[in-house]
Amino acid sequence: MQIKELIAAAIEARRNSYSPYSHYQVGAALLTADGKIITGCNIENAAYGPTNCAERTAFFKAVSEGIRNFAAIAIVGSPEGEAITQFAYPCGVCRQVMREFCEPENFQIIVAKSEEDYRVMTLAELLPESFGPENVMEI
Ligand code: THU
Repeated sequence: MQIKELIAAAIEARRNSYSPYSHYQVGAALLTADGKIITGCNIENAAYGPTNCAERTAFFKAVSEGIRNFAAIAIVGSPEGEAITQFAYPCGVCRQVMREFCEPENFQIIVAKSEEDYRVMTLAELLPESFGPENVMEI
């Protein structure tokens, strides 16, 4: 699996962003352990609170289809109509959702401006000293 392919899928998913309130468009592409790509975009709501981030859209799509093993996620975000000139890091809620299903030391988070310009981190780096499933149940 090429990182470039995952970033390209995130850029494509961003085109579906429903963000009439913030006008900030985010796309995510989640790589499953067996090599499948599941995409997501941010989906806003007039009541604001029900807004779902792109990363969680991708995770919830995957989990709802019975997929629970993941290798990486690529994320792109920028204001509507603008080039992607910033790295869009996942919000705290999305990091915690990743923590539910991913191994912190192994799961890779790729924030990208383009297929050539990106940064790769682990979930452990972005969510250190975290709280997860093993804290509340035997795994
Ligand atoms: N957003 C995401 O999709 N992912 C993040 O990690 C941060 C924020 C979305 C939510 C909202 O629709 C817009 O970006 C502005 O916050």
